[in-house]
Amino acid sequence: MFHVRTATRDDAPNLIAVWRETWPATYAATLGAHAVEAMLDDLDRHGTASLFPQVGAAGLCLLDGDEVVGTAIHSVGRSVVYLWGMYVMPRHQRFGAGTLLYRSVREAAGEQSVEVRVVQSSHQAVNFYRKLGFQTVGQGATEIMPQVKAVCLTLRHPA
Ligand SMILES: CC(C)(COP(=O)(O)OP(=O)(O)OC[C@H]1O[C@@H](n2cnc3c(N)ncnc32)[C@H](O)[C@@H]1OP(=O)(O)O)[C@@H](O)C(=O)NCCC(=O)NCCS
Repeated sequence: MFHVRTATRDDAPNLIAVWRETWPATYAATLGAHAVEAMLDDLDRHGTASLFPQVGAAGLCLLDGDEVVGTAIHSVGRSVVYLWGMYVMPRHQRFGAGTLLYRSVREAAGEQSVEVRVVQSSHQAVNFYRKLGFQTVGQGATEIMPQVKAVCLTLRHPA
């Protein structure tokens, strides 16, 4: 049974473990091995700071029992809630966990719209957000991580 809780600084090893497993699984096919290598190198050098800034953001952990099996990060204190770092471990995908995780983001967003940038060729992610009711509001080449550029869609979920 999945549940969601706020991520604390003590979760750093859990978040890193999730990203270390999900990034190759997510991006090797769409962005290539070099991009994955650059991302993991950034993670080695900066730890959670490579995705989770100390200020202006809140993190969520998806749990299966006691084990952290997914993450989401969203902005706080802005007029739109920006969502990123949304990952569910491959063996737990397609069981509704991502939808549950997003529900917590939606609750945190309240009356605000939620925006996310998704690699256009990542059909899994694009389908996921479309099913949740997100609509495309932009498209363009984006630096998704230092040294990693990809064509991304900007998707918005109205309040
Ligand atoms: C995108 C992601 C978070 C979804 O998590 P999940 O737990 O698998 O999502 P859910 O089980 O709640 O799926 C909800 C819907 O999303 C769509 N979806 C999810 N995975 C899909 C896939 N592999 N192919 C096509 N559609 C998919 C489906 O419409 C699905 O509904 P259905 O199962 O009733 O058909 C997860 O697949 C993931 O971590 N992917 C890799 C990382 C990533 O791309 N993150 C987004 C970066 S912004």
